[in-house]
Amino acid sequence: MLEALQRLEYRGYDCAGFACLHPESNRILYAKVTEKLLDLQQQCEQNSIDGKVGIGHLRLATHGMVTHENTHPQFDCQKSIALVHNGIIENYHRLKGQLEEAGHTFLSSTDSEVIAHFFEASLRSHKTCKDALIDLVTQLEGAYAFAAVLQEYPEYMVLVRRCSPLYIGIGDDELMTSSGLRALSGFSNKIAILPDESFALIQNDFIELYDFSGKSLPLHTQEMTFNNCVHEKCDYEHYMLKEIYEQKNAIYATLEFLNLISPNIWEHVGIPVKKVQQLERIHLIGSGSSWHAACIAQFFFEHVAQLPTQVSLSSEFRFMPLLPTDNTIYGLLSQSGETADTLEALRLINNMDFPTIALTNEPSSTLVREANGFLLTQAGHEQAAASTKSFSTQLVVLYWFAHRLALEKDIIDESHLQTAEKDLLIAAEVLENSIENYKFVIEQTFAKKYSHYQNIIFLGRHISYPFAMEATLKLKKISYMFAECYPAGELKHGPLTLIDATRLVFLFSHPDPSIYRKFLTNAQEIKARGGHIVAFLFEDQHELKVLADHSFVIPTVKPLLTPIAMAGLMQFFIYQIAKELNCPIDKPRNIGKTVIVE
Ligand code: AGP
Repeated sequence: MLEALQRLEYRGYDCAGFACLHPESNRILYAKVTEKLLDLQQQCEQNSIDGKVGIGHLRLATHGMVTHENTHPQFDCQKSIALVHNGIIENYHRLKGQLEEAGHTFLSSTDSEVIAHFFEASLRSHKTCKDALIDLVTQLEGAYAFAAVLQEYPEYMVLVRRCSPLYIGIGDDELMTSSGLRALSGFSNKIAILPDESFALIQNDFIELYDFSGKSLPLHTQEMTFNNCVHEKCDYEHYMLKEIYEQKNAIYATLEFLNLISPNIWEHVGIPVKKVQQLERIHLIGSGSSWHAACIAQFFFEHVAQLPTQVSLSSEFRFMPLLPTDNTIYGLLSQSGETADTLEALRLINNMDFPTIALTNEPSSTLVREANGFLLTQAGHEQAAASTKSFSTQLVVLYWFAHRLALEKDIIDESHLQTAEKDLLIAAEVLENSIENYKFVIEQTFAKKYSHYQNIIFLGRHISYPFAMEATLKLKKISYMFAECYPAGELKHGPLTLIDATRLVFLFSHPDPSIYRKFLTNAQEIKARGGHIVAFLFEDQHELKVLADHSFVIPTVKPLLTPIAMAGLMQFFIYQIAKELNCPIDKPRNIGKTVIVE
């Protein structure tokens, strides 16, 4: 169990817990730590906490601080039910009030504890565990996946799922469950995915599966192959650094995959060719870095495929009026394929029956399963919290897909698609070579120098603006430095007041001469107020080089591919700043890699 939990550590957590039934007395034994998994392991060993039926959890605080009480497992009043939960019970406040009135005592501030107490009450008023569960799920609102062990029914483990994912693994002599498939790799490759809005009662080697009304459901299992189960850092100090350097190969692998599926691409993405030819709009949806990739891809689809493209943040999408037009496809971007906000957006669109394509790095993710079709990045498992190779490979897929659409719509011919593929390979070369060109000076001088700034402004224009947003997020996420990003043209509409000699400005130029000239004006404005400029610019942009305090010169690539060409160097520079500040780069505080709650 602890080994399986270890596999999910990369997702981020701030406390951990374990509970099991004592093999003879059936009493619940448990351990909780507000530190690392290793400490949980020690506690379990020291106190001989072990058994044959158990549950474990890594918690990233949402409701309530990082305390012993708030750590899962959560219990009922008698500590006869132990439960671990992912998701958020949206009506927990009301339920807690009702339960308190009925005499239940709560020990934590979590929403999850409500489930344990409600379950306790339901078990009292129903004859069977199954009936109690049907009652329980009618009361709970929100997204949840939980597993529970019960003193009263020691033969069972209870699994319940609504929206949040839950998998069952069938091993040789054991059954197991997890919210993340990665935890099961190596233990079982015969996997059943718990259907949405269902619950299961697991007994030794027998599984009963029901929908929320209690109707029995068949259990479908599938063989799964797990790649990259062992994720070593090799000689790298951090996963993030390793993953920055893996980008060139990841881009090659992604292009190979795209070539492979190209002849049957429309089957793959689940859209009939006829619909592709009639296509009028694209709507892209994502969060964080995936949203930035979507913002960059807007330029690809509009310039290459002449398709008006809208981009939405997953967390905002459901609150906007959905005004779908007939010939629109919806692309949902997510490295993990499990981001709750993005899945929620997908479900809204699916309900309206519009075509959806998942773009993810995880073939067995919920996003792939629930979308009409999918496109996969071939980045390999990304362990560090900060997206690097998943971001650049998303851009590769989107750039290629814009060309493939343009080909189908007779806007370009086959040779243009081939040129696009070659240009992507060139951009991948530039991405890697640029790191090598500046590695030494960044490590020796720049990282130290720029880690002292308190407030940093990032500027970009055209396609370099969403790229600047990505750089800003990256810096904030791994170095905890405060940074803001603006479209460079907005500087004079407000943020220019922030510029003085204490201010550091990162400026991401553009190869187009008319856009570049505007950057020159911005650089003059900043210098005139004593600001310090670090510019990412292209060959022949001498005036900007003179104005900047330091500059990184990137070989010129196709203008739309500048975000890929600059990505490696930007990530490397930011990585080195965070390293200089001694930050826990791979697992920054307060956030998880896979954000499975809304
Ligand atoms: C940034 O480095 C992040 N990893 C983060 O913003 C991430 O892109 C976001 O949480 C969405 O995750 P997803 O791509 O897995 O959906």
